Amino acid sequence: MNEQVIQLDIYRYNPEKDDEPRMQHYEVPLSKKGMKLLDALNHIKWHIDGTLTFRRSCGEGVCGSDGMNINGVNGLACITPVEGLKQPVQIRPLPGMPVIRDLVVDTTHFFDQYRSVKPWLQNARPSPEQERLQSPAERAELDGMYECILCGCCTASCPSWWWNGNRFLGPAALLQADRWLKDSRDEADNERLDQLEDSFRLYRCHQIMNCMDACPKELNPTKAINDIRRRLLLRRR
Ligand code: SF4
Ligand code: SF4
Ligand code: FES
Repeated sequence: MNEQVIQLDIYRYNPEKDDEPRMQHYEVPLSKKGMKLLDALNHIKWHIDGTLTFRRSCGEGVCGSDGMNINGVNGLACITPVEGLKQPVQIRPLPGMPVIRDLVVDTTHFFDQYRSVKPWLQNARPSPEQERLQSPAERAELDGMYECILCGCCTASCPSWWWNGNRFLGPAALLQADRWLKDSRDEADNERLDQLEDSFRLYRCHQIMNCMDACPKELNPTKAINDIRRRLLLRRR
């Protein structure tokens, strides 16, 4: 392997023109120490092949737009160092989501599922003059959940979601459901639990924990799902 070059095989597919997907090989100079995979993709886009299509925005692991499958594991291109990746690096779109073009997937269903858990504060009491206060302990309950950037890496790594994604909400939406159940300011626990208590929406999780391994923010959707289940059990008593 030439140490100055990164080799990549990238999934290419334009459903409007191509009969089927193909992998395309590229070689990119290793331009700097700590170079990230997004730098390599940008180099291809700007200097080699302007037709390569992918999403990105912040470049810093914040916006969640460049989730993709990298050597078989979902992750964010912008925080994945190229050094250390097995080459040629195999880059594919997030699994289980329809491909719009190349590495760009259709996230409509993913975000519809997110919206279905009503990810906003529900509290009928009149708003206080300044803000609804939380104690430090109540605020700490949200740690490990508010950091989610909705990149979809977890949901797109979940076999239960691949097979039953039309009915199973998937780890990202369920993590957010738990985030609002745990918010001390929210008053809609019962309605939220009623909506989740369903053999598919919640209980299709088989605890395989792919979601946790895929999360670039090191969050734990499996724990969130278990916490919702425990809450439902306690409610039945
Ligand atoms: S733990 Fe549950 S949600 Fe996470 S990948 Fe496995 S089946 Fe999917
Ligand atoms: S839980 Fe992690 S992997 Fe899943 S959407 Fe949020 S940040 Fe992305
Ligand atoms: S470009 Fe925003 S998270 Fe990677």
